[in-house]
This record gives sequence, C-alpha cells and structure tokens, in this order.
Amino acid sequence: MTATPLHVVTGAFGYTGRFIARRLLQAGKRVRTLTGNPARPNPFGDRLSVAAFDFDHPDALARSLEGAAVLYNTYWVRFPRGRVTFETAVANTRTLIRACERAGVPRIVHLSVTNAAADSPLPYYRGKGVLEQAITGSTLSYAILRPALVFGPGDILVNNIAWFLRRLPLFPLMGAGGYRLQAVFVDDLAEIALQAGERRDNSVVDLVSPEIYTFDAFVRLIAAKIGSRARIVHWPPRLVGGILGAAGLVVGDVVLTRDEMAGLMAELLVSSSPPLGRTRFADWLDRSAAALGRTYASELDRHFRSQPRMRAEGPSGAAPNPSE
Ligand SMILES: NC(=O)c1ccc[n+]([C@@H]2O[C@H](COP(=O)([O-])OP(=O)(O)OC[C@H]3O[C@@H](n4cnc5c(N)ncnc54)[C@H](OP(=O)(O)O)[C@@H]3O)[C@@H](O)[C@H]2O)c1
Repeated sequence: MTATPLHVVTGAFGYTGRFIARRLLQAGKRVRTLTGNPARPNPFGDRLSVAAFDFDHPDALARSLEGAAVLYNTYWVRFPRGRVTFETAVANTRTLIRACERAGVPRIVHLSVTNAAADSPLPYYRGKGVLEQAITGSTLSYAILRPALVFGPGDILVNNIAWFLRRLPLFPLMGAGGYRLQAVFVDDLAEIALQAGERRDNSVVDLVSPEIYTFDAFVRLIAAKIGSRARIVHWPPRLVGGILGAAGLVVGDVVLTRDEMAGLMAELLVSSSPPLGRTRFADWLDRSAAALGRTYASELDRHFRSQPRMRAEGPSGAAPNPSE
C-alpha cells in the first residue's frame, strides 16, 4: 500500500499556515509543520506532525522535508528587530529552498507579496523579490502566490485598526488617505494554495479579492461595521508615524513600521491582475465585526517574545474556523 504523500507547511500554528494546514487535513493529506516554536500548543492535535525549522542545521531541515510532495512556505518576518533581520530571513529561506532540493521535494508553493521586486527601496518587498528569483532559479517546480493584505480570523492589521477605532476618540490617517489597497481572505488564499500544490506548472500570481479601497474608505468601513464613533482625521504622515511609535510603546508592540506606511502609501498592496479571491472584505466584516478588535493582536507576542502564544493567536486559539 502506498503511504499518503506528505505535505509540509511552514508556520501551521501561525496565520495563513494554519488555514493551509487545516484545508490539507480536511483533504485527507498527511501534514507536517515546520515552525520556529514546536512547543507551541498544537490546535490540530495528533493529525499534524511538528518539526522545528532550524536553519542552522540544514541536514536536519532536509530530513524533515524528505518524502514531501509539496512545501507550502509562509516563512518570513514582518519587520527586523534585534538579531532578526530581512537579510537573515532571506538567507533562511534560501536554506529552506536548498533543503527542498536536497530532500527531492518536487514542488513549492511560496507566499510572496504583491509588487515584490528585487530592486525595491523597501527591504520587505526587496527581500521578497530576491526570494522569488531564488525560487524561479531553483530546481523546484513552483507556484509563487503574491497576496496583498490578508484578512480573516487571526489577522493583525485589520484587527488592530478595529482595536484602536474602538478605544480612541480620534483615528489619524497618513495624509489624505486616498492611496488604494486590496486584500484577500485568508481561507481563499489557503484554497488557492492547495490548488497550486496539485499542479506542476510554474506560476507567479497575485492574490487579491475584487474590491479596491482607498485607505480612508477602508478604515471608515471598519469603523462603520464595528460601530466606532472615532473621528477619522488626516494628519501629516510624519506626525502619524510618531503617533504610531508612541502607540507602540503603550501597547508594547510595533503597530506599523515606517516602511509599512511607505508601502501602503505607494500602493504596493494593489494588483493590476484579475482578482482570484472571492470573499468580499465588506461581507466578511458583516460576519466578524462583533468580535473584531476586542483584543489587541501583538506581532511581538507572536514572534519575538517567548510564549503567551495562544492569547496571541486571535479569536480562536483552536483550529481556525474560516467562517469567523
Ligand atoms: N499577513 C498578511 O497580511 C500578508 C500580506 C502579504 C503577504 N504576506 C506573506 O504571507 C506569508 C505568511 O504571512 P503570515 O501573516 O501568515 O505570517 P505568520 O503566520 O505570522 O508567520 C509565518 C511563518 O514565519 C515565521 N515567522 C514570522 N515572524 C517571524 C520572526 N520574527 N522570527 C522567526 N520566524 C518568524 C512563523 O514562525 P512560527 O512558526 O514560529 O510561528 C511562521 O512559520 C509571509 O510570507 C508574508 O510575507 C502576508
């Protein structure tokens, strides 16, 4: 009898990786996660095997990938801090790609970002562009998925916009707020990732849902759906950057980096491709507004501090429910 092929997901205790793992398990696949925190509570129980991604030990990494039909790679860092830098994230991902090649993994489904470019002035987008080149130049067959902002249960940015809107009398936007953005629902992303895992052709596609919002309209929509009475004001980006820095000190997190502000204002979260995501942000807000922003979601808790993990995992610490 042939064993069910193994599918490996980096970050199945995280955000997008959880939804990908959940769909793989529902499809009856054998699933392993590679994670930086193997001791973290496993919401999938025995159905998901767990290994550490130890980039300092490429042999062990390759062994944990042996027999895998597909690697779904979500690994990346949102911003540099301490010894974690974009350069180390690029180097670690290169190690992961080489480990796949050594282990004979035929296929990678890799999460990038809209408008990734190796010559971007913004290190996040530049690192993503460099890694796209590393993947297209590897021996692996690949699907590179480039999401814009990802929304859904367990997200950070939308949740925290709602958290501030619930608590503050004023919500300052950088400048006029006319810069546009798109988003994609996390479970649409997972569905598309699984479809990409079944194919063998090479592809690079943007992942967005049909709606395009200005940032001003995006924040106003969230405010309206959660019943916020905060006044939305337009202040100079430099001032808003300073306020976000101060807000970060209050909540003990990095709320939004200056580079993230710059990427947003440069409309790097907009795609010129047809939308592949089906779930509309406004419809999801209708279903989720009551719970959205009730607790602050901390990037530092999730990825830079040791373990108050389940608190940081969003509305359901357990296996995610895509209808949330
Ligand atoms: N979320 C969005 O709105 C969005 C938008 C566009 C593109 N993307 C891309 O989609 C992918 C997945 O994003 P996500 O939000 O789902 O990420 P995530 O779940 O927070 O993290 C994904 C993986 O990266 C690891 N990781 C994250 N930050 C780390 C850090 N500081 N140090 C060490 N490891 C770290 C996680 O480690 P653990 O296993 O230890 O948790 C996990 O394995 C990323 O490549 C991201 O660039 C996301």
